[in-house]
Amino acid sequence: MAFNIAIDGPAGAGKSTIAKKVAGALSYIYVDTGAMYRAMALYFLREGIAPEDEAAISEACGKITVTLSNENGEQHVFLNGEDVNGQIRTEEVGSMTSKTSIYGKVREKLTQLQREMARTTDLIMDGRDIGTCVLPNAQVKVYLTASVKTRGERRFLELKEKGVECSLEKICEDIRKRDERDMGREIAPLRQAEDAVLIDSSFLSIEEVADKILALVKERNV
Ligand code: DC
Repeated sequence: MAFNIAIDGPAGAGKSTIAKKVAGALSYIYVDTGAMYRAMALYFLREGIAPEDEAAISEACGKITVTLSNENGEQHVFLNGEDVNGQIRTEEVGSMTSKTSIYGKVREKLTQLQREMARTTDLIMDGRDIGTCVLPNAQVKVYLTASVKTRGERRFLELKEKGVECSLEKICEDIRKRDERDMGREIAPLRQAEDAVLIDSSFLSIEEVADKILALVKERNV
């Protein structure tokens, strides 16, 4: 049976940075499920579908194929065969993703794909519902969080480094709104699985968090 590590938590807690590091240390595949939801949202945006139009979104799901490839340790996501890695990280796509990932048809499609990948492959998968819904039998489950203030400051510095003008207050407000949507939705809301280990990264370095997860893997792997 494949060994699966599930990492869930709110936006900006450091899930992808840490999951990549752990995947590298273990030579596991890293699966960023947020990128899959983002690719679908990009399709809805391109088609001009309103985020409130569940019927149109559900119908569009039948026309979308999302696939992943791993190139030199980096995940690439393909939307109907087109590599869309460079187009899914904008605020516009992020906001559309959070609004459209609430729908059953969208979640069903990606959940199935994610389970198939995990069945045969040792991997670390991050998202919002991996430990609770996608991989309830994952051998290691982590709920990675950090305060809104810490997450906001990290995002602020990231944007500042890129030369993007932004206000810390507005970033924190956006984070709060996204948390509310991700935690408050009806299907597969973001929450800590009962058997997940809680790690608060507010005052920990990337290495410290990665080491904690590697220690959990070692414990469960004997
Ligand atoms: O992790 P991220 O910021 O790329 O995720 C973007 C959005 O996708 C987020 O608002 C919630 C949604 N998402 C989800 O509903 N389930 C997942 N497993 C991963 C992401």
